[in-house]
Amino acid sequence: MRPTILVTGAAGQIGFEVARLLEPHGDLIAADRASLDLADPDAIVAAVRGAKPALIVNAGAYTAVDRAESEASLAQAVNGRAPGILAEEAKRLGALLIHYSTDYVFDGKSTTPYSEDAPTAPLNVYGQTKLDGEHAVAAAGRHALVFRTSWVYGLRGRNFLLTIRRLAAERDEISIVADQIGVPNWSRALAEATARIVAAGLAGAAERAGTYHLSATGRASWHEFAQAIVGDATRPRVVPITTAEYPTPARRPPYGVLATQRFETTFGFGLPEWREKLARCVASPVEPAVRY
Ligand SMILES: NC(=O)c1ccc[n+]([C@@H]2O[C@H](COP(=O)([O-])OP(=O)(O)OC[C@H]3O[C@@H](n4cnc5c(N)ncnc54)[C@H](OP(=O)(O)O)[C@@H]3O)[C@@H](O)[C@H]2O)c1
Repeated sequence: MRPTILVTGAAGQIGFEVARLLEPHGDLIAADRASLDLADPDAIVAAVRGAKPALIVNAGAYTAVDRAESEASLAQAVNGRAPGILAEEAKRLGALLIHYSTDYVFDGKSTTPYSEDAPTAPLNVYGQTKLDGEHAVAAAGRHALVFRTSWVYGLRGRNFLLTIRRLAAERDEISIVADQIGVPNWSRALAEATARIVAAGLAGAAERAGTYHLSATGRASWHEFAQAIVGDATRPRVVPITTAEYPTPARRPPYGVLATQRFETTFGFGLPEWREKLARCVASPVEPAVRY
């Protein structure tokens, strides 16, 4: 029997890719914000009990890092509370939950890659709400795979790659922060990894429940990432600046590289260096939008 798969946030960067890739593996219910509002606990319960999925992939999240500073209660509802409700409902059904979290649960004071067990200390509201979501999932029991990742980009939605492309078309010079270090991750690569784990079997995936760092390897500053996007073009010039020169409402961790050994050892594969995926991404066509 084909399992029912519920994907939330299905119009988002990861959600769009993961829904597309999971379609062959079950009867897919791809819910965007209009069809399932994660800020509404009753709607979540009704959606899950109605669908009775064997797998829930929670790709929905409040991801506006700066806006979260002034919309903390909405960010908390979506990032902090909804994952716990999904986890409770998944437990009730004997379903598996796959949930995504972020390197922003860390304070960025480390200079070496963060392991899953490293102490968390978010610097901003978004990071705190995502950490609360992780705790809520854990409190519901060990029925979930939580994949922390970082710096998600793609050819759809709102992200750094598309912002740099737009600025590059408008300006001769762009100034980009060079003292924040992390790892760019193509949304499709994250979705492919998720789909590969699902394709290998839900029972096996459930046995591996826990928190994992799912990321490409290598490291970059935002400045290096921007330079890689612009490539060899002589225009625009990509000028390195400091975080202090680019103040934002939310503080960002200066370092967010995630150690991926636990993921690789557990699932038997990993993601390549981030530049390889960036090259694949920019060479690929934009998939047409799907209406849910
Ligand atoms: N983006 C990053 O750099 C990054 C880094 C690390 C981890 N992550 C994590 O990766 C996961 C996926 O993020 P993403 O990059 O795919 O973000 P995204 O492109 O912003 O997608 C998130 C989706 O969630 C939807 N959403 C927002 N509020 C909602 C609500 N109340 N109910 C239902 N859906 C709602 C958004 O819809 P609207 O567009 O209509 O608001 C959007 O389609 C999240 O857990 C995120 O925390 C992301």
